[in-house]
Amino acid sequence: VLTQVSAKKGQTFHFGSTYDTYDADQSWFDSIFQTFFKHVVSENGCKWDATEPTQGTSDLTECLATQSFATTYGNSFRGHNTFWHSQTPSWLPGSFSASTLVNTIIPQHVQAEIQGMGSSVTSWDVVNEVVGDGVSNGMTALQCVQNKGDWPTVTSDGSGTPLVTDLSFIYQAFKTAYTYAGANTRLAINDYNTGGQDAKTACVIAVLESIHTNTSIPYDRLSIGFQSHLTASTGGFYTKSALASTFSTLAALGVDAMITEMDIEVNADNTANLRYQAAIWGDYLDACLYASNCNEFINWDPRDDLSWRGTSAAATLFDSSGNPKPAAYEVAARL
Ligand code: XIL
Repeated sequence: VLTQVSAKKGQTFHFGSTYDTYDADQSWFDSIFQTFFKHVVSENGCKWDATEPTQGTSDLTECLATQSFATTYGNSFRGHNTFWHSQTPSWLPGSFSASTLVNTIIPQHVQAEIQGMGSSVTSWDVVNEVVGDGVSNGMTALQCVQNKGDWPTVTSDGSGTPLVTDLSFIYQAFKTAYTYAGANTRLAINDYNTGGQDAKTACVIAVLESIHTNTSIPYDRLSIGFQSHLTASTGGFYTKSALASTFSTLAALGVDAMITEMDIEVNADNTANLRYQAAIWGDYLDACLYASNCNEFINWDPRDDLSWRGTSAAATLFDSSGNPKPAAYEVAARL
C-alpha cells in the first residue's frame, strides 16, 4: 500500500523508525524493516559524539552501518543530526573562539558527515533543537534561538555569556550541508513541541526564513522536522487541522514538513489509553499523508522496551514482545 500512497501523492512517502546496530533482537528488526517500516534513522549513530570522537577525525562507522542496514531491505535513510547541543563529543564545548567554532569546526564536521554519507540520504537534520521553550509571538529568529539557553547560545562555564551572538553557526552549518548534500536531499531544522499555531512553531518558521535569506538556499531544498514526542495525558499535541494549516503554510513557500520522532507516552498501559494513543497517531499520520509537502514520517524507537521514554511509557507502535499495538493497526489501515 505504501507504493500506492506514493503514487497518489506523486512522491515517495517514507515511513519508518529508528535503528542502531547495538539494538537487541536483530531478527525482529530484520523482519519489521522488511515488512512494516521502510525508512531508517539512526537513533544515535550519526550524532556528533559518534562521528567525531577525536577532533578532526571523522568516524562514520555506526552511521554507515545503519544506512547499510536500510539498504539491505531496500529502505531509504534519513540523517539525524549534524548539529545539536546534546550528545556532542567530549572535546566540545571547548576553549576556542566563536569564529573558530563557526568558521572551522562546524563546517569541517558537517562536510565530513554529509559528504561521507553520500547523496542518497533523503533529508538531514542540519540543526536540532535550536529554538527555546520560553519564546513568545513576534520574536525575531535571533531572539528565538537566544531563548534556548544551551551551548553555543551560552557558554558551558555557567557564566551565561553567549559563545555565539548571532545565527552564523546555523548559517554555516546549512551552507556546508547545501554544498555537500545530494541534489534531492532536504535540509531540515528539527524541533519538539512544534507543529501548530503557537509561538515555538512560529519561531521555527522564522529561523527557517532567516536561513533562506542569509544563505540563499532555495526553499524547495529546506524542510522543518516536527519531532512529535507527545504525552497523551498532558495534551500539548495538535489537531489534524492545526497540523494541516502549518504544513500548508510551508507548502506555499516550497518547504517540506516532516514528522521526525513520533512517540506518545501514556500514563498506564491499558486498553483505553492505547486506543487514545492510536487515535492521535492516526491524526498525525493523516495530516502528513494529506499534505502535499509531507513525505517523511519517522517513529522514534520501534517498540516499547527500546523506547527512550522508558518501557512503562508504552510510547511506541509495538509492545515489548514486538507485537503490534492498536496504534500499529491504525497506521496499517492507512499504509
Ligand atoms: C535520544 C535517543 O533516543 C536516546 O537513546 C539518547 O540517549 C538520547 O537521545 N530528540 C532528539 C533525539 O532529537 O536525538 C533524541 O534521541 C530524543 C529527543
